[in-house]
Order: sequence, then C-alpha cells, then structure tokens
Amino acid sequence: MRAVLLIAVALAAGVACVFNTARSHQPPARLPDLAAPAAPAKPYGVDKADFKEPFAQRASTSCSASACHGGGAVGRVGSEHSTWAREAVPAETSDPHAKAYSVLFNPVSVRMGKALGIAEPHKDARCLTCHAVDSTKEPETRDQILSEGVGCGGCHGPADKWIAEHTLPSWKSRSNQEKWTAFGFVPTKNLVARALNCASCHVGDGERDMNHDFVAAGHPRLAFEPARFHFQPDYRKHWTEKGDATSFEVRLWIVGQVATLRASANLLAVRAARADKGDKQTPWPEFSGYSCYACHQTIGDPETRGSLSATARPAGRPGWEVWSNATFGVAADSCGLAFPGLSSPKWPAVGKLRKLMEAKLAPEPGEVAKKAKAAVAELDRWLAELQAAEDRGSGAVAKGTPETIANRLAKNALSDDRKMLADHDWDALAANYLGAAAMYHAAGGKDRSGAAWREPLLTVGKELRFPAGANGPVKFDRPKLDPIRDAFELLRTRTGTPEGK
Ligand code: HEC
Ligand code: HEC
Ligand code: HEC
Ligand code: HEC
Repeated sequence: MRAVLLIAVALAAGVACVFNTARSHQPPARLPDLAAPAAPAKPYGVDKADFKEPFAQRASTSCSASACHGGGAVGRVGSEHSTWAREAVPAETSDPHAKAYSVLFNPVSVRMGKALGIAEPHKDARCLTCHAVDSTKEPETRDQILSEGVGCGGCHGPADKWIAEHTLPSWKSRSNQEKWTAFGFVPTKNLVARALNCASCHVGDGERDMNHDFVAAGHPRLAFEPARFHFQPDYRKHWTEKGDATSFEVRLWIVGQVATLRASANLLAVRAARADKGDKQTPWPEFSGYSCYACHQTIGDPETRGSLSATARPAGRPGWEVWSNATFGVAADSCGLAFPGLSSPKWPAVGKLRKLMEAKLAPEPGEVAKKAKAAVAELDRWLAELQAAEDRGSGAVAKGTPETIANRLAKNALSDDRKMLADHDWDALAANYLGAAAMYHAAGGKDRSGAAWREPLLTVGKELRFPAGANGPVKFDRPKLDPIRDAFELLRTRTGTPEGK
C-alpha cells in the first residue's frame, strides 16, 4: 500500500509541479576553492556531537510564541510551528511528524504491539525512538515532549544550549559546523547534515532499528528517497528552499543516494556486530536489509526463469539493500555534474560489502560488521567532501544536468546490450524510476525540458504500481518487465545527450 502511494505520489509530484522560469543557467558563481583544506573523514551534524554533557530537549510549544515561530500564517517565515502543528491551522496538507506519536495508539500499532509482545507501543522505547523526541528531563516535561511526536528538536537538535543563542545577531555569522559542534544545533541548511538526519529515522541507526519482525507485524516498509520525500505533495513543509530550484533537487538526489546507503550500511554494521556477539534480540540474517519482493512474490512463469535480466546475482538470492544500491553508482558518476570541482569517488569498500552480502544467504556476521564499517567510513569521506562543497556554495548546475542524469539512470536500468533489464528486482527498477522522476521534476516537468520524457516515465510508473488491493507487486514477470525495459530504452533516447548516443 505504502509503495503504491510512493509511486503514485512521486509521479503526481513530478507531473503536478512546474517550476517558475527564473532559473539561471550561468556558470557557477564561484569556482571551486582549490586551496580548500582537505575534507575531514566524517561529515558533521550526525550521530552525537562530542558534547561533554547531553543537552536537554525543549518542548515544541516553547518555540510557538507568535513573535517566534507561531505566527499563524502557514508557510511564512516566523510561522514554522503553526505550519508543523496540525491543530493550529487545519488544511488539506499537514506535517506527518506532528502526528508521529499519536499513531502509536492507532489500530495498526496496537496490532503490532500484540504481535511483538509490546504492551503499550506509546511507552516503548522501540517505537518512541523514531516516533517522538525522547529527552532525559524530569517526567512531566518528558511526557509533554513525547506527546508532541517528532517536534522541532527531532530535526533541529536539543535546544537547551542554542535556544538563547539562536536569536542573537551573532548566530547568523556562525558557520554550520560551529552551530553543531558548539551548540548541538543540527545545521539542516546543509543538505548532507539534513539528509543524514532524516535517514536516522527513515532508514534507522544504532538506536533506531525497525527490523523484519516489525514489518511482518504490520509496520510500513521504510523506503527512503530524500528528493521524493521533500516533494511529497501532502507534506506541509515549514520552509521554502532558497536558490536555484533545479540545482537544489539535483544535489538533494545525489546527496540522498549517499546518505541513504550510508545509513543502510551503518545499520547493517550495528546489527551484524550485535549478531556476532550472540545477542538474542538480533535476528540474523536480518531480512529487512534485503529486497522485500525477492522473497514476497508469486512464483513466475517457468519459461522465463533465469532470463529475466542481466543481473549477476545467482538465481534465488535476494539482493542486499537493492533500494539504496541500485542507483548509487549513477550518483557517484554524476558527482562532478552536481558539484562542479568534485571528482567521482571510487567505492571499493561498498563493492566488497555488496559482494559479501550477495555471495551467500547468511554471511558470517563478524565479517559483515567489518566490511560494513569500512563501507561506512568510505561513504563518510565522500559525504564530508559533499558537505564542504555545500558549505562553500557551488552555484547553479550546468544546463541539461537533469537530462544527463536521467539518461544515465535509463542506461543503468538496462543491460549493456540494452536487450534486457540490468536487474529485474522491483526495488532496482523503482530506484531508477524515482531518480529519473526527480530529474524530470528538477528539469521543470512537462512544461519545460522534461516534456519529451514524460511518456516513458508514466509507463514505468504504471507498470511498477501495485494492483488494487495488493501491497506488493503481483506477477512481476515478462509481461510487466518488457514494457518497463522498452520504456527505459525510450527514456534513454529521449534524454540522449551526445555522450548518451
Ligand atoms: C527506525 C524508525 C522507526 C521505528 C523504530 C518505528 N517506526 Fe513506525 N514509522 C517510522 C517511519 C519513518 C514511518 C513512516 C513510513 C513511511 O511512510 O515512509 C513510520 C510509520 C508508522 C506507522 C504508520 C503511520 C501512518 O500514518 O499510517 C505506524 C502505525 C507505526 N509507524 C507504528 C510504529 C510502532 C508501533 C513502532 C514500534 C513497535 C514503530 N512504529 C517503530 C519509523 C519508525
Ligand atoms: C522533519 C524534520 C523537521 C522538524 C520536525 C522541524 N524542522 Fe524546521 N526545518 C527542517 C528543515 C529540513 C528545514 C530547511 C532547512 C533550514 O532552513 O534549516 C527547516 C527550516 C526551519 C526554519 C527556517 C525556515 C526558513 O524559511 O528559513 C525554522 C525557523 C524552523 N525550521 C523551525 C522549526 C520549528 C519551530 C519546528 C517545530 C515546530 C521545526 N522547525 C520542526 C526540518 C524540520
Ligand atoms: C525523529 C525521527 C524522524 C526524523 C529525523 C525525520 N522523520 Fe520523517 N517521519 C518520521 C515518522 C515517525 C513518520 C511517520 C509519521 C506518521 O505517519 O505518523 C515520518 C513521516 C514522514 C513523511 C510522510 C511519509 C508518508 O509515507 O506519508 C515524510 C514525507 C517525511 N517523514 C519526511 C522527512 C524528511 C524530509 C526528514 C528530514 C528533513 C524527516 N522526515 C526526518 C520520523 C522522522
Ligand atoms: C529472505 C526472504 C525475505 C525477505 C528479503 C523479506 N521477507 Fe518478509 N517474510 C519472509 C518470511 C519467510 C516470512 C514469514 C512468512 C509467514 O509468516 O508465513 C515473512 C513475513 C512477512 C510479513 C508477514 C506475513 C505476510 O506475508 O504478510 C510481511 C508483512 C513481510 N514479511 C514484509 C516484508 C517486507 C516489507 C520486506 C522488505 C523490507 C520483507 N518482508 C523482506 C521472508 C522475507
């Protein structure tokens, strides 16, 4: 059901939204700073800062004074709390984060609780860790903050140390990094810090683990793609992106690919280390790290077995994190397009991890933990570079960048000889599709340069959609895969840049 929405919504966003025409296609305003110091090994703004003592959270209501963030005019600066809060200003759209706690009382949560042996999901750390902001303060305040769901502190960081500071004129002149290291303020303006923070809940991390037991008990599958999540039409955001819209979306897609894979590899490292220690609470292998519809599907037509795509994965082996791996290579290759001056990274450690995870069904957890950690470190180095580029400011991307990336995604979906799909896995196809849909949206949609490639995208979207009443693909076989292959081929020719021909 969720994934149906996902596809429907991505398409709706792509088709419905037309950007204004005031986009510049000038060369970057600033050349990359060649004298910039080497990027650090890790991005800032994630996990926990090296604070001496943990900072306390504040209630979201403490941000809601009308002179602060409770101005009452949805979408306006100074009305962020009003926009986030549901009851304050009812509208068709809303911010899902404001109801994140209350859904822990709904019938799905109650049913999940029964299946998992969790008496009261709204009191259980296993749910609260993503559905609310937990703080160590005294009980009454804690309860109030919890009941607000994913409030301000869930994304902007614990306010204790920055609440006074952030109203001073000096705040604006502080760097993103300083806001984080000295005050614990998550610098959400930086896309790397932002996407990694979204991913800490939407993928998970060491303290937030949504495994296959939860999914089997009824939790919606987590399938995060930041560019799409940002443009979900029913998400009432309390901010407006500034700067060139095309560049923003291209960069968000690239950063999102790296951040999502980083979060997945990190979660795998944590799970594997726990399994290696023999932790009884940690299932191994952990199914939620594999492609859902590799296992959950109807048994296909015997004629087509083993010939559905060019994937190198042995028949009968589910892919590891296909969702976050399938288009990662395109993001890596397109890094310099999105961030002029950066070169494409190599990713041997990610490659080794992938190989290990797909070589057998239950790889030895100690080995997995080691390789996953190495992959995280590799991705962190790249994220730190992207983050520094973000902070320097990279100007507008070159004209035609979304088309070029969409073209690469179309090629990525196809085998080298283009006679087959590269991978028939639903997640692989969906990832290529969502990336191309983001590029279509970034290119300005149907009224601008995206017009030519709308048709193949609509076809892929239609074939990927789950049939009514199903919550997964049904008979995802030749009759569906052939039109998808043809549509990706059409997308390739319609986005054909000189290098694409
Ligand atoms: C790793 C973080 C994480 C954990 C742990 C987690 N959730 Fe969620 N939950 C999410 C996210 C993110 C969504 C939204 C998913 C989406 O649509 O992409 C969600 C959605 C839901 C929904 C659907 C909400 C709706 O509006 O329909 C329910 C119900 C739910 N969670 C209940 C629970 C319960 C009960 C637990 C504990 C047993 C739990 N969750 C644990 C992150 C988490
Ligand atoms: C789901 C994550 C999330 C939550 C929850 C959240 N924010 Fe934000 N907020 C963001 C992001 C992302 C931005 C955009 C980047 C930026 O301007 O920092 C942002 C921007 C802002 C801005 C700058 C707006 C602008 O136009 O420059 C303010 C002020 C703000 N948030 C206040 C709040 C307040 C107050 C709350 C609680 C009611 C809140 N935020 C809850 C993620 C969140
Ligand atoms: C503290 C954890 C947390 C963080 C951080 C977080 N989210 Fe969420 N998000 C949730 C939960 C939980 C839900 C499900 C809420 C519900 O439906 O009740 C959710 C729901 C959503 C949804 C609606 C999904 C759907 O299928 O309807 C979108 C879109 C979304 N988040 C985007 C973002 C973005 C973008 C960021 C980063 C700027 C972000 N979130 C950061 C926990 C989080
Ligand atoms: C390696 C194979 C495998 C993978 C990968 C896998 N599952 Fe499962 N799943 C199973 C098995 C086996 C069961 C138990 C079936 C039963 O109880 O009858 C199950 C049970 C379930 C159930 C409850 C029973 C049902 O069919 O409704 C749901 C829901 C579910 N899985 C969803 C998912 C989702 C979503 C993913 C991806 C995040 C996923 N699974 C990945 C093998 C897998």
